[in-house]
Amino acid sequence: MTSRAPYIVIFGGTTRPNSSTEQVLHVCETSARSRGAVTRFFSAADLQLPLYAPETALSDTRARELVEALRRADGVIVGSPGYHGGISGLVKNVLDYAEELSSDSRPYLDGRAVGCVACAYGWQAAVTTLSALRAVAHALRGWPTPYGLAINSATTRWDSPEHPDPGIVQGIDVMVGQVIDFATTAIRASQAPAAPLNEEVLKT
Ligand SMILES: Cc1cc2nc3c(=O)[nH]c(=O)nc-3n(C[C@H](O)[C@H](O)[C@H](O)COP(=O)(O)O)c2cc1C
Repeated sequence: MTSRAPYIVIFGGTTRPNSSTEQVLHVCETSARSRGAVTRFFSAADLQLPLYAPETALSDTRARELVEALRRADGVIVGSPGYHGGISGLVKNVLDYAEELSSDSRPYLDGRAVGCVACAYGWQAAVTTLSALRAVAHALRGWPTPYGLAINSATTRWDSPEHPDPGIVQGIDVMVGQVIDFATTAIRASQAPAAPLNEEVLKT
């Protein structure tokens, strides 16, 4: 059976021109597309949403678009800069909007792989921010991929998404591959007929 293409939502970055986080996410998108995924990209410019408030969250058109995309997602890739050792306010605010998925049949990011990317101007914040993103993915019932990306922007040569650091690209391919494989397996499982009961086993 041919299964449909996985729909992968990629979001994050910073509003800074040439944001390294956003460039990494663009390379993630290229990698996901090369593996047959359909992608939806939300840059930091798209993510300047009101501070999340449960009473009014869906009154904002951009917020509704984001929440609908996350609802539909087969997999997610999120990228945050390390700001003072943690997730930036902008990215955390977006993650808070996942609360709007709490009553879904698949609550929050349940059953979805979450690829996490953290960029900071040093290893310490890159690693602590990656850990924080993974903790949020767990809290949202998602499955952080075994391979995550902690990127030290101070030592990474990153001219543009067209000329990325080859070492980072390898890591991106591993992580994106894990997101897509997880999504594809879940899609196939949802389309597969139930296995027949083995009566012999039931008798024993
Ligand atoms: C408000 C703010 C706080 C930051 N805090 C840290 C930090 O604690 N540790 C660190 O290594 N870099 C810190 N940085 C640097 C960013 O993590 C780094 O420049 C990162 O690459 C930013 O992502 P961008 O290139 O996508 O804008 C900070 C930058 C800003 C603007």
